[in-house]
Amino acid sequence: MSQTSNLSPTTELEWTEAGRPHPHESAVLHVCGNANYTDDLPELQGTLHAALGLSAQAHAVIGNMNLERVRQVPGVVAVFTAADFPGDNQCGPIIRDDPILAAEKVHYAGQPLFAVVAQTHEQARRAARLADITYHPLPAVLHAREADAAGSYVLPPMHLQRGNPETALEQAPLRLRGQWQVGGQEQFYLEGQIAYAIPAEGEGMHVVCSTQHPSEMQHVIARALGLASHAVRVECRRMGGGFGGKESQSALWAGVATLCAHHLRRPVKLRADRDDDMLVTGKRHDFHYDYDIGFNADGRILAARIGMIARAGFSADLSGPVATRAVCHVDNAYYLSDVDIRAVCARTNTQSNTAFRGFGGPQGAILIEYVIDEIARQLDMDPLDVRTHNFYGRNDDEGRNITHYGQKVADNVIHELVAELESSSDYRQRRTAIAAFNATSPVLKKGLALTPHKFGIAFNVTHLNQAGALVHVYLDGSVSVNHGGTEMGQGLHTKVAQVVAHELGIPLSAVRVSATDTDKIANTSATAASTGADLNGKAAQDAARQIRQKLAQLAASRFGGMPDQVRFHAGTVVCNEQRCSFLELIQHAYLARVQLWSDGFYATPDLHWNGNTMTGHPFSYYAYGAAVSEVIVDTLTGEWKLLRADILYDAGQSLNPAIDQGQIEGAFIQGMGWLTTEELVWNSQGKLTTHAPSTYKIPAISDCPADFRVKLFANRNVTDSIHRSKAVGEPPLLLPFSVFFAIRDAIASVSVHRRSPPLTAPATAESILRAIHAMHTSE
Ligand code: MTE
Ligand code: MOS
Repeated sequence: MSQTSNLSPTTELEWTEAGRPHPHESAVLHVCGNANYTDDLPELQGTLHAALGLSAQAHAVIGNMNLERVRQVPGVVAVFTAADFPGDNQCGPIIRDDPILAAEKVHYAGQPLFAVVAQTHEQARRAARLADITYHPLPAVLHAREADAAGSYVLPPMHLQRGNPETALEQAPLRLRGQWQVGGQEQFYLEGQIAYAIPAEGEGMHVVCSTQHPSEMQHVIARALGLASHAVRVECRRMGGGFGGKESQSALWAGVATLCAHHLRRPVKLRADRDDDMLVTGKRHDFHYDYDIGFNADGRILAARIGMIARAGFSADLSGPVATRAVCHVDNAYYLSDVDIRAVCARTNTQSNTAFRGFGGPQGAILIEYVIDEIARQLDMDPLDVRTHNFYGRNDDEGRNITHYGQKVADNVIHELVAELESSSDYRQRRTAIAAFNATSPVLKKGLALTPHKFGIAFNVTHLNQAGALVHVYLDGSVSVNHGGTEMGQGLHTKVAQVVAHELGIPLSAVRVSATDTDKIANTSATAASTGADLNGKAAQDAARQIRQKLAQLAASRFGGMPDQVRFHAGTVVCNEQRCSFLELIQHAYLARVQLWSDGFYATPDLHWNGNTMTGHPFSYYAYGAAVSEVIVDTLTGEWKLLRADILYDAGQSLNPAIDQGQIEGAFIQGMGWLTTEELVWNSQGKLTTHAPSTYKIPAISDCPADFRVKLFANRNVTDSIHRSKAVGEPPLLLPFSVFFAIRDAIASVSVHRRSPPLTAPATAESILRAIHAMHTSE
C-alpha cells in the first residue's frame, strides 16, 4: 500500500475526520431554506430577464421569423437570434453539431429559436410566445428503430468482438433470441436550468450558472462571444441537482444569457420554467435491443450477439461516451466469453439525449439481467442461481476474469457480497413464503428478485481523469478549500473538506469549501462519472499535504526530531514529545514566512482506452452492490407497491457512510422511477407531451418501501483511491433492477406454466396490465 507522502502514513486508528458520518456541509442551510441557489442571489440593479422562443415543429426549414409582436410587448428590451453571436453559435460538447439558437433549420419540437429580454421574467415569457414563424416542414424521424432502419446516426456505429461468437452460438445447446427496450428518463433536478450573466470590466463576463461543468461553460461562452477564456468567469456554489442533465446541457442557457448580457451590457438572467426545461433539454437515452444468446442447461451464457440502438436525438452531445459505457457494462457482473456487440446512436428529431446518472451503464447492464431472467424462466431455475453461475471468477480464477473489453477484474467481491445479502435478506425463505402466498391469492401477487451490479469507475475518456485544488490556511487556523468539482447535493464538498481536515489534523468545522470558480481552478472536468470525490479528494489531499509538509519541517526545526514524525491530530501538533496547537504553529509559520497555501493536482494512473477496438483499461476499479426487492402487484389494476428492499453496497472504506447511504437510497428510488412510473411520451408530431410533473410521474416519498435496509459492504479499495473509498454517485442506480424483475416475477406467477411476461420498461400500470393480459391469453 503505497502512500504518496513521505510523512508518516495515516493509520486507520487515526481515522478521524475522513470516514465519519458527518452531515452534509449545507444540511442546516438546506432545511432552513438558507442555501442559496443561483436564483436566490440578490439581483443586481438593472438586471433583465430572458426567455426562449421554441420551435413548434420537429423538423423544418425556418421560413420567415417575424418577431415584431414579440418586440412590442411592454417591458421587452431586445430580441436576439442565431445571427447575433459574434463568435461560434455552438454548444456541442464533443462535436460541433449543436447550435445554441437554431439557424436555418429546426431539428426538434422545442428547439430554441430566439431569446427575448424584458424587464421581468413574466414579460419575457409572455412575449416569447408571440413570434410569427413560418416553417417549411421536412420529414421527421421520431423513433430509434426507424432511424436505425434508415441508417441515420449521429456518430459512426461501434463494434466490439471477442472470441468466436458465431461458432459459439451455433454450438450452444440452447439459444434465446429476441428484442427488448427500455425507456428514457427526465433528470428532473428540482432546480431547473439557470444562468445569470453579469458584465464585468471591458468585455469581461461573470456568469453564475447551475452547472456540473463550469470550465466547459467558460469555453462555450468565450467561443460564442469571440472572447478569450480569461475574460469569462463561471461560478457555481451549488446545484439543486444535476443528475447528468447539467453536464453539457447547461451550455445552452449559459450561452443565451451571456449573449444577451454581452449586447446589452446589463446583467441578464435566464431561468427555465419546468415545461421549457423539459421541452428543450435531452434526457436519458431510451435503448432498443436485439439479442441472440447461446447458453447451457445450467443457465451459463456461452455466447452473445447484442445490438443496441440508443436514441441520441438530433445531435451527438454525449451520446458517443454514453454508448461506449453501455457497451462496457453489458457484462454487468458476468463473464461473457464470446461476444459480438454493436451499438449505434440513432439520429431522431427529438431533444438531444445526454448524461443521466449511470451514463449508459444502466442501459447496458439491464439487458444482460433481462436475458438472465429469460434464461431462468426457460430453465425453471431461480434467477439468482443463473446469476451466480455466470459471475466473473474470483480474483484467482484466471480463466473467467477478463472483461470483453480486455480489462482484468482484479477486485471482484460479487460472490461474497451476494452471498451475504442472500443470507441477510432471507432470500430463499422469502421465495418459499411468496410461492405459498401466491398459491392462495388470486388477485394480489407477490414477486421477489435479487440483482447485482459491477460498475466501472473513471471517465472512459482517459484525459478527463484529472483534477486540481487550492487550499488556503488563514492566520486564525481556519482553512478555505477550492477544487474543480461541483456540489449538486451529492455531498462532494463535505467529503473533500473531510479529506483536508484529516490531512491537517484539524476539526471539520475549521474547513470551508468555497464555490467552484473557473478563476480559481482551470480546465476542470465535469463533475460526473461518479469521480468527484476520487479526483478532487486526491487533488485537495495533495494540496493539504504540501502545506502539512512545510509545517512539519518548521515544527521539527523548532522542537527537534524528524519532520516525518510530526503528528497532526485534533487541532494539536506533536513533535519530539512536545506539543503545540495547530493555531500556534500557523502563526509561527507566518512569521517565519512559510507558504500557508498550496495548489494540488491529481491524475488517475494506469488508465488507457482504444476507442477503435473498444479495448483497454478504462476503469480505475469497480464498485459492486446488490439488492433484493419484494413487491406486491394488483393483477386487476396493474398497481404495485415495493414492500421491502435490502441493499448491500460496496463503498470501499467509505469517506462518509451517512452521505453514502443517502446516495444509495436516492439512486435506488430514482432508478426505480426510471424502470416503473416515469414515461416520456411524444405525440405523432414529435412534441413531448409529458413536460411537467402533472403528466410525468417521478417517485414520491410514499413510493419508498416501508422496510428499507441499506448496508455498506465491509471492504477496502484494492486500488489506491482516496482513503481506499469507492465511488457511490451512480452505481446504486442499477440496484432497482431488482424492483423491475420482482414485478416481472409477480406477473409470471399469474401463469402456472413457465412463461416469460413480455414486460418492457418502464413497467407502468398499463405495461403491467398488458403483460398480465398476454400471460392469460397465451395459456
Ligand atoms: N446526488 C444528488 N443529490 N444530486 C445529483 O445531481 N448526481 C449524480 C450523483 N448523485 C446527483 C447525485 C450523478 S449523475 C453523478 S455523476 C454523481 O453524483 C456526481 O458526483 P460525484 O462524482 O461527486 O459522486
Ligand atoms: Mo453523472 S450522469 O456522470 O453526471
